This record gives sequence, structure tokens and C-alpha cells, in this order.
Amino acid sequence: MFGTLLSCAAMFPTIRPRRLRRSPAIRRLVREAHVEPSDFILPLFFSDVLDEPRPVGTMPGVFQLPVKAAAEQARLARDLGLGGVILFGLPKQKDPCGEAACDPDGPVPRAVRAMKDAAPELCVMTDTCVDEYTDHGHCGILKQDARGEMVVDNDATLDVLARSALAQAAAGADVIAPSDMMDGRVGFIRAALDGAGHSDIAILSYAVKYASAFYGPFREAADCAPKFGDRAGYQMDPGNAREALRELELDEHEGADMVMVKPALPYLDIIAKVREHTHLPVGAYNVSGEYAMLKAAAQAGMLDEKRATLEALLSIRRAGADFILTYHAVEAARWLGA
Ligand code: PBG
Repeated sequence: MFGTLLSCAAMFPTIRPRRLRRSPAIRRLVREAHVEPSDFILPLFFSDVLDEPRPVGTMPGVFQLPVKAAAEQARLARDLGLGGVILFGLPKQKDPCGEAACDPDGPVPRAVRAMKDAAPELCVMTDTCVDEYTDHGHCGILKQDARGEMVVDNDATLDVLARSALAQAAAGADVIAPSDMMDGRVGFIRAALDGAGHSDIAILSYAVKYASAFYGPFREAADCAPKFGDRAGYQMDPGNAREALRELELDEHEGADMVMVKPALPYLDIIAKVREHTHLPVGAYNVSGEYAMLKAAAQAGMLDEKRATLEALLSIRRAGADFILTYHAVEAARWLGA
């Protein structure tokens, strides 16, 4: 300790970190983390009921889209050089089991087909979960537990998730991304995909997904707010970090090809830990609440949206994420000169 202090004192004035901050050229040369359009995955919401785009009130600049808009979105994402898109669906009909999630002619499979037709080289991911498709808004099939409470039945939910993944893969999705947080679902979906000849389709697991207040604005976009209770019985407790590594290990063993941490900004420590513990690509979901905060502050004239957003996205990359799911994908790509 004493030695360190002494040698630091001896370094100045010889050692001066500011030398490397003198000009944009030097700063760029020594910058450790970077963001580029290819780091961004754009979330999109496709509806089976809309004929025109409908703005999402809680997320300025985000729209629920009719499926007929899919081709145009695909070309936009490709032309901007985005890393990909991830699709969510708003079905005509909801039921207690979320069966519409398995409909090969549902909004997501139709949008996938249109997007792969319009831009075959674009990476198209699909969110696999039933909360947009259940009438109660939970991420699985309900049962009454021994206490008489309604809870999500883990094992009964696996089947509908796997069938939904199969419909998405059959439509041409490149990556299946289960976001439900049921135990065992990665292995179950992997087996179902392999059994149906989709062994080349990758799984991006929402491995580490917290029960977060920052999903609030999304629930209007995807019309999936739970009608009772909350998701704390299946999503992770925000106080837990070691548990993140446990979830990561399980999903790796079950065959996940990529893993995700969600949300991103309040969980940068978790992204860094996950990065240290896996050789798999790591994604991070810069969720609706993170987007809404920046939009609201910018609209109130409190923040420079471009600078604040690019800094936030850079921080997620610096923490260790290889790619970022973000509603700012299109704007950020343009700010970066795409
Ligand atoms: C569940 C799902 C949610 C999000 C992505 N997938 C909502 C939830 O878990 O309540 C949230 C994404 C966001 O807030 O941007 N299918």
C-alpha cells in the first residue's frame, strides 16, 4: 500500500494519462469499447388486428405494426446494417393456454416469412413466450397450487413453448429466443427443434431475466400485462447475482447457443459477471423502461438524447455484451452514420 502510494507519487509528472485524451484521433485509437449498428437487434411488434401502425403511448417512436409492414421493416433493418430483429406478436384471439402462439398463420410466423422473403440475409429472431397470447397475461399455463393460489405450471407450459418455437422455426426464424423463464425450457425446445429437423436453428436464451419494473412500458406495446399478481414466481429476484450464474450454467448445459441478460442498464454488473463465466455470445436487453426514461428526459429537454443514448449503449457493450436488443436501434444506427 505504502509502496503503491510512493511509486504513484514518483510517476507524476512523468506519467500523464491526459496525453491520450488530447485529440479525437488519439481518443478513438485507444477506445476500448465500441458500438456499431451491427450490435443492435431491433424489437418489433406485429399485430393481427391492425391495418395501420399504432403508436405505443408509453414508448414514443415505437409502433405496433400490421403484418403487411414486415417486408419494409426488414429492408430498413438490412439497409441500416442492424444485427437483426426480434419479433413479438399480438394475436386476434387470446385464451388461457396461449394456443395462438403456435398458429403457423399467426402474426409472428407470417411476419417472419415476409421478412425473410424481403431480406433473406437479415437475422430474424423470434421471442418465444405465451404472455402475449394468454388471456391472463402470464408467461405460462396456470394451475392452482397447494395453497390455493394460481401459479404458472412450469412443466405444463413447456409443450406450448416448444410448439410455438416449432411454428417460428418452420416460418424461417434464424434464432429462437425463449423469454418465459420456465425451468428446463431450453433443453425441451432444443429437443423439439432437433426432432423436427431444425437442428441448425439457434437458441438465444433469456437466461438471466429479472422481475423488473422496467418492463412496464413494454406491457402496453405487447398487450401482456398480467391480469393478476406479478411475474416474481418465475422471473429472478433483483437482489440476486449468484443465481444469475446458476441460470447461465443450466441454460448452457441445456444447449443454449447464446445467452441474454435482461434488463441491461440496472444490471451491468450481471452482464459483466455473465461475460466472465461463459464463452457463449452474450446479449443484453435494453428494455422498454430504459428506453422510455431516455425519451421522457429528452422530451422534457433534460438530456441530449443522442449523446445519452449512445453512452448508455456503449456502457452495455463495455460491461461485456456482444449485442444489444434496443428500441433505439434505428435511431442509434443513423446517429452512427448508417
Ligand atoms: C415476455 C417479455 C417481456 C419483455 C420481453 N419479453 C415482458 C415481461 O417479461 O413482462 C419485456 C421487454 C421490454 O420491457 O422491453 N414475453
